[in-house]
Amino acid sequence: MAKVAPSVLAADFSRLADEIKKTEVAGVDLLHLDIMDGHFVPNISFGPSIVKTIDRLTGLFLDVHLMLSNPEGYFEPFIKAGADSITFHLEARPNPIELAARLKETGVEAGISINPDTDPAKVLPFLEHFDLLLVMSVFPGFGGQSFIESALDSVSAARNHIDQHGLATKIAIDGGVDGDNAARIVAAGADILVMGTAFFRNEDQKTLTQKTQALRR
Ligand code: DX5
Ligand code: ZN
Repeated sequence: MAKVAPSVLAADFSRLADEIKKTEVAGVDLLHLDIMDGHFVPNISFGPSIVKTIDRLTGLFLDVHLMLSNPEGYFEPFIKAGADSITFHLEARPNPIELAARLKETGVEAGISINPDTDPAKVLPFLEHFDLLLVMSVFPGFGGQSFIESALDSVSAARNHIDQHGLATKIAIDGGVDGDNAARIVAAGADILVMGTAFFRNEDQKTLTQKTQALRR
């Protein structure tokens, strides 16, 4: 059963409480919160105070995706704000094992993300240290981009590694995911589908959520 993680970046922030409530009504599994620093990616989004606001609005699990050049400098404020899982990029920290341990010591889950042009072989040796691999299917920085098909190869490579080694690491995919490509993504081996635009622009979020959750490998 696949999990649905709406990316709040695509929500209408003038009605944030309503938008979060609607994700709960739709029955989503968790929320994905995109943090951008204007340096690792060419855009700026929001910081810990908005994460804290969202944490007060919902009991849903909060997966915080740090698109930051200096991720560990912000672990503490986002954990205090209510993050349940923190994901940072391999491109920012090519030796991520110690940071995974640091996150887990504080009681949050640890995630590692790779961009679409990063060879998945580079992240495989680290997966045993992480709860989550976040495969980017767009170049990070903006919502509403088109899905990059080659990300499916990264998902398959990670799936094979995880299964062969009996790891518990979950695979999430992020960027351009919608009701049309969801089945192929799950078939390639993803456990969690991040959906921004496709979720928040959908008139029938409950059906989209249920159809996605019903997908199996
Ligand atoms: C991209 C972000 C994604 C993005 C997803 O930088 O990490 O989470 O907002 O949005 P959609 O689904 O619109 O591509
Ligand atoms: Zn993201």
